[in-house]
Amino acid sequence: MRTRPLKVALLGCGVVGSEVARIMTTHADDLTARIGAPVELAGVAVRRPSKVREGIDPALVTTDATALLKRGDIDVVIEVIGGIEPARTLITTAFENGASVVSANKALLAQDGAALHAAAEQHGLDLYYEAAVAGAIPLVRPMRESLAGDKINRVMGIVNGTTNFILDKMDSTGAGYQEALDEATALGYAEADPTADVEGYDAAAKAAILAGIAFHTRVRLDDVYREGMTEVSAADFASAKRMGCTIKLLAILERAADGESVTARVHPAMIPLSHPLASVREAYNAVFVEAEAAGRLMFYGPGAGGSPTASAVLGDLVAVCRNKLAEATGPGESAYTQLPVSPMGDVVTRYHISLDVADKPGVLAQVATTFAEHGVSIDTVRQQGKDGEASLVVVTHRAPDAALSGTVEALRKLDTVRGVASIMRVEGE
Ligand code: HSE
Repeated sequence: MRTRPLKVALLGCGVVGSEVARIMTTHADDLTARIGAPVELAGVAVRRPSKVREGIDPALVTTDATALLKRGDIDVVIEVIGGIEPARTLITTAFENGASVVSANKALLAQDGAALHAAAEQHGLDLYYEAAVAGAIPLVRPMRESLAGDKINRVMGIVNGTTNFILDKMDSTGAGYQEALDEATALGYAEADPTADVEGYDAAAKAAILAGIAFHTRVRLDDVYREGMTEVSAADFASAKRMGCTIKLLAILERAADGESVTARVHPAMIPLSHPLASVREAYNAVFVEAEAAGRLMFYGPGAGGSPTASAVLGDLVAVCRNKLAEATGPGESAYTQLPVSPMGDVVTRYHISLDVADKPGVLAQVATTFAEHGVSIDTVRQQGKDGEASLVVVTHRAPDAALSGTVEALRKLDTVRGVASIMRVEGE
């Protein structure tokens, strides 16, 4: 056992960083035994040094993160600041100064993962980021390492806890979006500005990271098609219930049938209640992975929060420290397939469309003709009429998204269609 400690610099000491520091202290002996050398918290870079941080020696606290990284004896940097800058510059500085990096920064990895991986490789160092996707759930390492001998064809997951909490409330109580969001905010699940969660940006960043790992190709945030869930209504849930479905905000990553391209998307969708993801309640995350040899795997657990995210950070810390002692590195970026990312219009999916129409002869035929003209085959139609008006619910067979959205546009233009009450993709069948 080596007695000289591995020195760790912690960048950021908020909800996650303070938990990382606490566990590093309270579990120091176990971490030493697992790594084969002691780990020492050598410095903590923060923005507000005057804040009281229980359990952290004030002498370790600094506002000068760059000086901490440049002092020359740091072995591992833990970055839990989040956002693009200064995190990007600090991670680059860490590599330039010989430190491996453990990061929880999904936005940065989704935007600049390739450059950061290249910098790590250039300096013979590690970049680990289990905590960037789905908090405590072991997902990055199983996909990068345990499934490295398999071929992943599809990943479908709930990777945002805030929106899952809101949708679950809407489903279980019949509440509208705003009412459920207010409850999520009151309980601390949603931030004061919930845009990143409810508009799907957070899930899209995680989707980009997972797609890159799953398909061994580069998928950037801009490649991910994104729709938020603010338009999902109580009426959509009522429609979903009639179909034996619920509604989830899903990240879906697929390899095309010919294997020549991939797609990555985040949007709300109906899924059957029999699908394992339908039973993911409250703020939990779950990711369903379909691999050629392994079959279907589901990863489930808490996707956010200080302690769960710290668990993922510390797992990476142990791995990176072990690699340091072995004078080795773990897996870097694997982007050898260089598959193009196809646009949303090429994605093959199904639509559930609810229309308000005039209840008179020929309307159903006119609607059916519009579907046929766009090459979209109808699976089921349900009509309910009242006082010369009718509501028409059409569920399609699978078709390219461009054909399905083209059909909806054409339906909107029909005189007999008073309005399109709801459009929702149907997944997971
Ligand atoms: N805001 C995220 C969520 C957690 O609600 O899942 C951090 O990615």
